[in-house]
Amino acid sequence: MLCSRWRTPGGVPEAHHARQRDGQATYLVAWQDQEPLGSGVLQWGGCIGSNARTAYPEAVELNHLQVRDQYRGQGVGSALIAAAEDRASQAGRYQIAVGVAEDNPDAERLYRRLGYCPTGAIDVSQYDWITPEGAVRHETERDHLLVKDLDPTLERAR
Ligand SMILES: CC(C)(COP(=O)(O)OP(=O)(O)OC[C@H]1O[C@@H](n2cnc3c(N)ncnc32)[C@H](O)[C@@H]1OP(=O)(O)O)[C@@H](O)C(=O)NCCC(=O)NCCS
Repeated sequence: MLCSRWRTPGGVPEAHHARQRDGQATYLVAWQDQEPLGSGVLQWGGCIGSNARTAYPEAVELNHLQVRDQYRGQGVGSALIAAAEDRASQAGRYQIAVGVAEDNPDAERLYRRLGYCPTGAIDVSQYDWITPEGAVRHETERDHLLVKDLDPTLERAR
């Protein structure tokens, strides 16, 4: 249903789902009725970037956070981040990390507002992505790591 309602070229949702099936990740999708609004992936194996991983070996990483254009600015991204934090706490993991590209100040502002703190750790990643028109684009990204400590007592109190 997700792929039929939200067409994403390049097999990206399938790859996220395969990681979930293998137990390596939880693929979070926000829905409104039958309509997917956005998604993110909680990586149980921790940070992908080597500097982030070395600095925060205990953290789970939330990545691939994306809300569809027409649904942005309505709290969907915040809800996905909250859901990721809940899942992490329920699994007994109390530190969550996100890597934000240095040219993405809007996303960084959102994370900081939600309690994520800059760490100074930076990782450079390279990846290919496929435009809706089918062209392959190569990107190099410098990701700044932000980390939030989750409060274990909150989960126990629920
Ligand atoms: C960043 C993103 C996930 C936020 O989702 P969202 O549903 O728009 O977020 P919310 O409605 O919960 O919160 C709104 C906040 O998101 C941030 N934001 C980032 N990009 C935004 C956009 N294009 N439109 C609206 N808000 C955006 C802003 O900080 C905004 O808060 P503000 O009031 O301070 O401007 C979404 O905008 C998105 O998919 N952006 C493109 C992909 C991306 O940058 N992913 C993050 C990778 S680290």
